[in-house]
Amino acid sequence: MVIETNITQMLGIKHPIIAAPMGPFYTNKLTVAVSEAGGLGVLSHITLHGTVSLEKMKEGMKYVVEHTDKPFGFNIRTATLQPDAVKLCRKLPQFIMNNSKIKEQCKYLVTSAGSPRMVYNKYFKALRDSGSDIKHFHVVPSLKLAKKVAKHGLDGIVATGNEGGGHQSYENISTLVLLQHIRQKLPEIPVIACGGYATGEGLASAIAMGAGAIAMGSRFIASKECEFHEKYKEVIINSDVSDTKLVTGVFGPARVWKNIYAEDKVAVSNKVEKKAEETSMSLINDSLVKLEKSYEGNVDDGTVLLGQSSGLIDNIEYVSDIINKIVNDAEICLKNAFEMLKAENARADALEINNLII
Ligand SMILES: Cc1cc2nc3c(=O)[nH]c(=O)nc-3n(C[C@H](O)[C@H](O)[C@H](O)COP(=O)(O)O)c2cc1C
Repeated sequence: MVIETNITQMLGIKHPIIAAPMGPFYTNKLTVAVSEAGGLGVLSHITLHGTVSLEKMKEGMKYVVEHTDKPFGFNIRTATLQPDAVKLCRKLPQFIMNNSKIKEQCKYLVTSAGSPRMVYNKYFKALRDSGSDIKHFHVVPSLKLAKKVAKHGLDGIVATGNEGGGHQSYENISTLVLLQHIRQKLPEIPVIACGGYATGEGLASAIAMGAGAIAMGSRFIASKECEFHEKYKEVIINSDVSDTKLVTGVFGPARVWKNIYAEDKVAVSNKVEKKAEETSMSLINDSLVKLEKSYEGNVDDGTVLLGQSSGLIDNIEYVSDIINKIVNDAEICLKNAFEMLKAENARADALEINNLII
């Protein structure tokens, strides 16, 4: 049995499971593994060690289509602080357009950490006009941003709550409340639920609440195929759900593992505070160095981006096993929930019989 949703149909994938982007790190192999397993692999926006992200993103796309025929996606962080965002938005659509296999398989662009409008421009329009059916989603931490995304006519949103790993917003809303809020006020918009998912129970709850898929970051780091250092993976399988905290990251608050480095750090609480910090230090460079450290395995002295869901993960598995287990468990949960639905007459009859027996 498969769980078919508006998102699986829209993206042409088998399972409603998407790899959350995890820049500035490489996730090329992870992307292939997730797509091959029937989910949607997503290439991260790479800015590691001062790389030219455009070239690395192109290489990533070529790598993916050489290793799988399945659909995949990619991320661009469109924050004002992201120096290469505009260049990627200008150049990548042209590159995709000129590569027929990439154009055929690249079905999903997810923008994040900034304005959804930046990429909803003539470059991506030209790509669509050339026959690509790429869908554009934007990461939203609040209903306010979800409304903006809907206004700009994007294809959907990734509703990401504050239990998720990596950068967070100042709103500090949980995925549970965010999803309900969005379903209440924007019931038509296609939603991918993100932040805190690692199990079949999580997938079943997201589907029951009207999401068409879940996106997972931390769960996929702890997979055999993920490029991350073994020490990073070990942190995940040894963590509890309360082992993360919010600290100041490149774009605002970020959820990280509570190591010695993070112990005395706090999170900025608003944009004004953040601006003041940016002028007082070379924040982007310092933050990147700390991220690179953790990616190289120095997990005690680096910034280890991680979600609360890490406490739900106890093993490093193949991506296909992770996806199959989550889907099977979700099916069981959904069937069990469905069993609880009784027609009113049947319920009344059952009550009557019970009363007679008593
Ligand atoms: C190591 C790491 C790096 C991340 N980098 C990015 C990024 O570059 N762009 C982005 O949109 N989200 C990024 N995120 C957030 C994830 O896309 C996703 O929202 C988060 O992992 C969801 O929470 P989970 O870890 O509980 O699954 C990152 C998360 C992690 C753990």
